[in-house]
Amino acid sequence: MKRYSFWWLFLLLVSGMARAFEPFQPLPQHPPIPAGNPLTEAKVALGRLLYFDPRLSFTGVLSCNSCHDLFAGGDDGRPRSTGALGEIGRRNTPTLWNVAFQTVYFWDGRAPTLELAVREQLFSRTEMGMPNEATLLARVRAIAAYRQRFATAFGEGEITTEQITMALASYIRTLTTPGGPFDRYLQGEAQAISPEAERGFREFVEVGCASCHFWVNLSGPVPGLALEMGQGFYELFPNFIGSPYDAQYGLLEDLGRFSVTGDPGHTYMWRVPTLRNIAETAPYFHNGAVATLEEAVRVMAKTQLGKELSVQQLADIVAFLRTLTGEFPSVERPRLP
Ligand code: HEC
Ligand code: HEC
Repeated sequence: MKRYSFWWLFLLLVSGMARAFEPFQPLPQHPPIPAGNPLTEAKVALGRLLYFDPRLSFTGVLSCNSCHDLFAGGDDGRPRSTGALGEIGRRNTPTLWNVAFQTVYFWDGRAPTLELAVREQLFSRTEMGMPNEATLLARVRAIAAYRQRFATAFGEGEITTEQITMALASYIRTLTTPGGPFDRYLQGEAQAISPEAERGFREFVEVGCASCHFWVNLSGPVPGLALEMGQGFYELFPNFIGSPYDAQYGLLEDLGRFSVTGDPGHTYMWRVPTLRNIAETAPYFHNGAVATLEEAVRVMAKTQLGKELSVQQLADIVAFLRTLTGEFPSVERPRLP
């Protein structure tokens, strides 16, 4: 009897592990929540106000939503964006939908937590442009309704920058889009995607895209398995240097992760980005140089795999990528205090 129950346990464990390592999985409803910043309703509600509040930018002209537009794909549709001080940034604005499933943040992975990524955005000259903490805090502390909201979310005491970043990160962790056609297909609904997209899914695996773009966010290993939060999954881009795309799209101008670590081995290394909602987030790549999804797939096949896709393969893979568009929860612009 005892042995019998042991085997059950073993089987359960093995099947649980097999599931954990399946290369494609539906997006869970909730991303991992760090112990240091538990998700509470009060923090999420406050984070939502801050997200839409242009007073968080130095000049009062931009909110987070100006660039990470939640009424669109979570980005702004521009190759590169102009920050609150009028300076153009050097990289494309990524979507914030499902970003909390990543283990590191920014194209080069320089922020190990979402809270630190948010903090950088507040003080970056090419984003919100706040010159220092004192300016930011004076701005927020002057608003009575915020003082009350922060007290509810964090307890009595002066508002701090950490609290601002924790509230924003909490709100961002609720920005997920499960339930799209590909997820429903993975859950057994065979008709959820077209035959063309199904062929495209097979091509995506056979051609080799899936060697980098896999798991829940199609961006490689996620927290709890091969990677811990704060550890990134980086790959070379271009992997095969020497295609005409290098010059055409300026692929060798930005050194990628090298600019963070200074390690020559990290030259042209980039965090593998999510492909969820990819049809909604043109233009593509860290410099926003490629305008269409078709061309982005062509470039990937050539630069990452050294392959040229047939017209059919290209159409199929693009049809598959379109099934990665999820169900966007309805977003309402809040009334600001
Ligand atoms: C002027 C446009 C702009 C504004 C305003 C802006 N961002 Fe960003 N955001 C960007 C760009 C560009 C990047 C990518 C920077 C990089 O990777 O080097 C980015 C990256 C991020 C990331 C990391 C995304 C990822 O895929 O890892 C987070 C999180 C983020 N922003 C949050 C915010 C928050 C919160 C605000 C408001 C406080 C904000 N941003 C305001 C343009 C903007
Ligand atoms: C060797 C790893 C690797 C392989 C293989 C690979 N990719 Fe990528 N992919 C990346 C990296 C890294 C980036 C980020 C590039 C950058 O920094 O601009 C990326 C970016 C993308 C983007 C643009 C994302 C965005 O938000 O702008 C798309 C679309 C994409 N890949 C699709 C594909 C497809 C389709 C295939 C197969 C034909 C493929 N990838 C193969 C690593 C890979």
